[in-house]
Amino acid sequence: MSESIVIIEGTKEEKYESLLPQISAIISGEADMIANMANISSALKEQFNWWWVGFYIVRRNQLVLGPFQGPIACTRIAPGRGVCGTAWLEDRVMIVEDVNQFPGHIACSSASKSEIVLPLHFNGKVIGVLDVDSEYLSHFDTTDQQYLEKLLKALEQNFTDEL
Ligand code: SME
Repeated sequence: MSESIVIIEGTKEEKYESLLPQISAIISGEADMIANMANISSALKEQFNWWWVGFYIVRRNQLVLGPFQGPIACTRIAPGRGVCGTAWLEDRVMIVEDVNQFPGHIACSSASKSEIVLPLHFNGKVIGVLDVDSEYLSHFDTTDQQYLEKLLKALEQNFTDEL
């Protein structure tokens, strides 16, 4: 596997189009979910320079902080709490344009203004979420959703180990 990735300038679409095949190559052949989550967080942070990007993993009916890039974050989230807990409980993608307008938002960092959270599945169950935070309002849209869903599919397909 290559140990560096190519970072480009360009539109959001161009950045995803460039990055996704590179991420697929990096995670292919590695069945360990934690290792893949760690490299995915790093690659996304490098290309997009988002405020915070990382995973929460379902453990004993809580979301527990997993591999991430960015400032330190809350370690545990209960089902249905905040944006992450809602995405998990309701098994749906959450795009929040202004986190201060989201009832129950968990402010790990006051710099975070908008957020996208996507559920991660294994064997038909939500086993974690990918959470991305931005210091800008309305930073995420359905383009992010489409590409990040594609990325999570690649992670899910490659996953054979127990967490
Ligand atoms: N804001 C999230 C919590 C996680 S951190 O932002 C890293 C939420 O409301 O679920």
